[in-house]
Amino acid sequence: MAILVTGGAGYIGSHTVVELLEAGLEVVVIDNLCNGSREAVRRVERITGKPVRFVQCDIRDRQGLDALFREHAIEAVIHFAGLKAVGESVGKPLEYYENNVYGTLVLCQAMEAVGVRRMVFSSSATVYGAEAPVPYVETTTRGTTSNPYGTSKAMVETLLEDLVVADKRWSVALLRYFNPIGAHPSGLIGEDPQGIPNNLMPFIAQVAVGRRDELTIFGSDYPTTDGTCERDYLHVVDLAVGHLKALKAVEAPGVSIYNLGTGQGVSVLEMVGSFTRVTGVEVPYRFGDRRPGDLPAFWADASKAAQELGWSAEKSLDEMMADTWRWQSANPQGYAE
Ligand code: NAD
Ligand code: UD1
Repeated sequence: MAILVTGGAGYIGSHTVVELLEAGLEVVVIDNLCNGSREAVRRVERITGKPVRFVQCDIRDRQGLDALFREHAIEAVIHFAGLKAVGESVGKPLEYYENNVYGTLVLCQAMEAVGVRRMVFSSSATVYGAEAPVPYVETTTRGTTSNPYGTSKAMVETLLEDLVVADKRWSVALLRYFNPIGAHPSGLIGEDPQGIPNNLMPFIAQVAVGRRDELTIFGSDYPTTDGTCERDYLHVVDLAVGHLKALKAVEAPGVSIYNLGTGQGVSVLEMVGSFTRVTGVEVPYRFGDRRPGDLPAFWADASKAAQELGWSAEKSLDEMMADTWRWQSANPQGYAE
């Protein structure tokens, strides 16, 4: 029996496939490669010394999924595939709802048809919305999301919850990620955003490697310790291990929700300072306007995952910085070279 990983050629998916293979599990990866890379999958094979079964397939392609489920005995699905750029989602809501919501719906229908009813889903801390008290805790109800990306995550959470209510044989883990950064310590796989990075860590790394001139820090007048926003950054390898643990949670029917974060807020200025301290590379920056939609500060209450899954983020901020830099400096153009 194998684990099906949708979006396994992407950033978090590729790191998770490494952990699954190293735990001795069989894996089948599907990805339509709209934002992932075939090279990432080859590098996962290099890291683990194991072949990866890769099928180029879109999660909206029901026939493709049916063929896949016929060909491979799948016991559970870890579902990463989707679009994730917040700003882009505002201009392209239909693409986001089609990929993220309709895509998940088709995937669930294909799973139902073959009796595979275990799913670990990539959700996001964004579903808590702007009003939730910090630290975010899973018992807080979903808030008002401020963009189609966030809304698509909230909609998929609802869809999966409704599915479990309707059919008690389904089991679903909704993993609410905080801010994953870093790379595999081998430096072979990492985050490879297309175009100008939206997120802080890849932007810092691209400035450091000379692909961009300077970082703009969005806002310096927030009500935080140094005026810049605070987030809960966690190492992508810790996040990947969280998925392995969540597979245990989906052995029993029902829905479970877990925050995956460190429980610590770190400011943008602290991020820049840590990067330079760890790598010795200066990151020129200037302060700019606040970015619309940004919240001043949030981090996870990560105690539920610790108690129920036995999972805690273990890697330090210094390791996140060192591993990001090992990946970025060895692969200045990402997988493109
Ligand atoms: P990513 O873009 O690197 O990986 C997603 C993968 O899914 C890509 O390889 C892409 O080609 C593939 N894909 C997209 N649409 C598809 C479709 N219709 N059919 C098949 N494959 C498709 O993103 P990531 O950072 O690895 O994120 C993985 C998941 O985690 C996403 O669902 C994302 O929304 C969620 N998430 C990410 C973050 C983050 O900070 N990176 C935070 C919270 C949640
Ligand atoms: C963003 C998304 C969130 C998504 C997450 C992971 C928004 C409003 N939120 O979260 O929904 O789940 O990415 O994909 O887009 N920053 C700068 N300069 C930069 C880039 C970022 O100062 O060039 C700051 C931001 O203002 C923020 C912090 O760095 O305070 C982290 O930003 P980012 O990495 O984009 O993550 P989030 O905003 O937390």
